[in-house]
Amino acid sequence: MFNVKSIGPLKGVLRVPSDKSVSHRALMFGSINKGVVSVKNFLRSEDCLNTLKAFISLGVDIKDNGEVIVIKGKGKFLDEPFDILDMGNSGTSIRLISGILSGQSFYSVLTGDKYLKRRPMDRIAIPLKSMGAQIYGREEGRYPPLTIIGKPRLSGITYKSPKASAQVKSSVILAGLYTDEPVSVIEPAKSRDHTERMLKAFGVDVNVKGLEVTLGKNRQLSGNLEINIPADISSAAFFMVAAAIVPGSEIFLKDVILNPTRTGILDVMKDMGVDCEIENRRFFLGEEVGDILVKYSKNLRGVTIEGDLIPRLIDEIPVIAVLATQCEGETLIRDAKELRVKESDRISSIVFNLKNLGINVEEFPDGMAIMGKSVINGGKFSSFGDHRIAMSFIIAGLISKNETFMDDIKCIETSYPGFLNDLKKLIT
Ligand code: S3P
Repeated sequence: MFNVKSIGPLKGVLRVPSDKSVSHRALMFGSINKGVVSVKNFLRSEDCLNTLKAFISLGVDIKDNGEVIVIKGKGKFLDEPFDILDMGNSGTSIRLISGILSGQSFYSVLTGDKYLKRRPMDRIAIPLKSMGAQIYGREEGRYPPLTIIGKPRLSGITYKSPKASAQVKSSVILAGLYTDEPVSVIEPAKSRDHTERMLKAFGVDVNVKGLEVTLGKNRQLSGNLEINIPADISSAAFFMVAAAIVPGSEIFLKDVILNPTRTGILDVMKDMGVDCEIENRRFFLGEEVGDILVKYSKNLRGVTIEGDLIPRLIDEIPVIAVLATQCEGETLIRDAKELRVKESDRISSIVFNLKNLGINVEEFPDGMAIMGKSVINGGKFSSFGDHRIAMSFIIAGLISKNETFMDDIKCIETSYPGFLNDLKKLIT
């Protein structure tokens, strides 16, 4: 049980750990590349280390010298793994790797922890099977462990994805590298586009037109690249919210990824009235980056968060819910049913914890309505084994009237080892 007490202002400069989505992709794409890639500022969290171990098991020469990770790519075709590949808690690892394994001429088995084994895989298995891969899983193929028997020459696909999901889009595009036939994915709304940007940097023909991504002629990754990974806006989000709600705070967050498919939280913070500025906008290998200054903000107001905005802040909704507790009036979150199949059922995890804080919250199948209230009580929180729920409600504990207790914070290692140390460093 971890205990949080309310504290004084948070002040200082922080570079939160690197982006999780980009770290996974750097390893995966570097592994199937023809050339040597060195990755600077790789995120050494449990999720990304599981991807790293998986590609070593697939025969890729990957060395971590502490500073940089050096990947000697094998080209598109990998070695059959000797054992089951364990993806731990990581949905991105299992879904993206499945696209690559669909194009291999061997048998592989993918598993994960008890949370990952409850997450739906039919969303990738359906398109990958229609491209020619054989995929089996529990409950008629819906859940891990998954068995994949790939095929080096897959068929093309025009996939109208029912969900705005970067994991689905990326999985199909990666399988699309193993065919010469037309491949395109059309999404109902734009999800994060790191795959498209990074594949282009590796020389692959990727064309993006509105909500449609199409692969062109060159589908072989090549080149000796240096990838410098920016800080993760999803990790920065915890400190942006902390600075906004703890009186007297002022935090400067450096090198944060500002890809427009990820910056929904900044739009919401502006709409709520948070005092926040972006400085030093620049690019790291096709990804926009900047520094963010956030100050304590009074007179915040509730907003509506729905529609195409949802995929742009999907991972930040737990901490946005905490911010909503400090807004005047109601914050309404809709169209976010996807939260029910994340690392936990995040709608019920958030609602459970907000109720324990004494907040008036109404749960909907696809979201929630949160009534803001400036003084919040303490209570017992549960992380539900979900890293983002744990960190979000530790931030809520900073402004609770009474002490708060969080069960099981080990899950934080999934994305942000060092979170509590960073928090302590900022407490003045
Ligand atoms: C991710 C995509 C998102 C996000 C996840 C990371 C990625 O999921 O929630 O944490 O790296 O592609 P979906 O877009 O598949 O919902």
